[in-house]
Amino acid sequence: MNIREATTQDFEDIWPIFHEIVSAGETYAYDPQTTREDAFNIWMTQPHKTFVIEEADIVLGTYYLKRNQPGLGGHVCNCGYMVSAEARGRGLATSMCEHSQKMAIELGYRAMQFNLVVATNRGAIRLWEKLGFEIAGRLPKAFMHSSEGLVDAVIMYKWLAVL
Ligand SMILES: CC(C)(COP(=O)(O)OP(=O)(O)OC[C@H]1O[C@@H](n2cnc3c(N)ncnc32)[C@H](O)[C@@H]1OP(=O)(O)O)[C@@H](O)C(=O)NCCC(=O)NCCS
Repeated sequence: MNIREATTQDFEDIWPIFHEIVSAGETYAYDPQTTREDAFNIWMTQPHKTFVIEEADIVLGTYYLKRNQPGLGGHVCNCGYMVSAEARGRGLATSMCEHSQKMAIELGYRAMQFNLVVATNRGAIRLWEKLGFEIAGRLPKAFMHSSEGLVDAVIMYKWLAVL
């Protein structure tokens, strides 16, 4: 398993993963109809950095890292993780999240925040808690789930720096 920075060419492999997850409308707030072009902008252009996780040269997951707020909130970063459906439950997101925390420190960030973890995404919440993130707050009915309608979302936060 290898984690490396994504190239423009990697978007060929990232797009099917992004599209499957986003079009399901269960875990990310991006418009389920997001086009490939908009997805490229969201996942490859806007972030500070984007990474892929691969096994035998096959991309199985991806994450982005970006600044969560400008200026005085700029020491807090935000990440988003996606793993292809066939590769879940094998520790890929765990590896990517651990990698992203090291990368965040290297890039000068001091904390990491997840802004909208859908409350029905219990596996993800359990995973982030296991990796040291705490639920900082609950947003009632903040997410329009494709099959469950309005559901809560949580903000998760981890201080990464020593001080
Ligand atoms: C959430 C997600 C990134 C987890 O990736 P993963 O590579 O399966 O996670 P890992 O293998 O590192 O960790 C598995 C843990 O996550 C949880 N988990 C979440 N979704 C899971 C799934 N579909 N299958 C198996 N485990 C899952 C389990 O609780 C498991 O914990 P355990 O080891 O204590 O049993 C992945 O399911 C995914 O891409 N989901 C769709 C997009 C998404 O929800 N992204 C996160 C938004 S906050």
